[in-house]
Amino acid sequence: MARAASLPTLISTFFIIITFLFSTSINAENHHFFQNLSPASIGLKREKLSHLHFYFHDIVSGRNPTAVRVAEADVTNSSSTLFGATVMIDDPLTVQPEISSKLVGRAQGIYASASQTEAGLLMVLNFAFMEGKYNGSTLSVLGRNMVFSTVRELPIVGGSGLFRFARGYAQARTHWFDLKTGDAVVEYNAYVFHY
Ligand SMILES: *[C@@H]1O[C@H](CO)[C@@H](O)[C@H](O)[C@H]1NC(C)=O
Ligand SMILES: *[C@@H]1O[C@H](CO)[C@@H](O)[C@H](O)[C@H]1NC(C)=O
Repeated sequence: MARAASLPTLISTFFIIITFLFSTSINAENHHFFQNLSPASIGLKREKLSHLHFYFHDIVSGRNPTAVRVAEADVTNSSSTLFGATVMIDDPLTVQPEISSKLVGRAQGIYASASQTEAGLLMVLNFAFMEGKYNGSTLSVLGRNMVFSTVRELPIVGGSGLFRFARGYAQARTHWFDLKTGDAVVEYNAYVFHY
């Protein structure tokens, strides 16, 4: 006849079962595809509105351009709007119009001539900030830039770091433009809701 299990065996069996149940419930949690969360559970407090002001330096000439043409179409150079020209940028952003003033970030991305009849760019870029607590945070821009308009408005479609859940708009005004070289300094005012 089978002997009744000893007390230590019962206790260790009990712990093995509890451990198994606990670990499977943790695994189940980790493998959830979908879960409702409260904003506070990922550290989101109150949504706020911020204004950022900086100057964007688009340097196409000289030995160290920050904007370089990376692609074009057969028709680009014969098009009055350079239709199809695609430019990759890593443009400095400074607090004042002078390039020697304090660097607060870089505009990294692409602009491309997207209109056959006007000087109109498609802009797809990130403002990558490096100033103070904003160092490492980004804002993502996807918009249309009619470069000869006095004020252009570009949607801000997202952000990271301190700009998580960002949405808003940026207004661009040409501060200075050199017709001969194509270099430009553009003033930006960005208004963003974020947490
Ligand atoms: C078009 O013009 C650009 C800028 O002047 C030049 O770098 C490029 O080589 C030209 N492309 C063609 C196909 O002529
Ligand atoms: C920004 O962060 C980078 C990476 O963490 C660091 O190397 C750099 O010194 C920081 N810059 C400023 C201006 O705080």
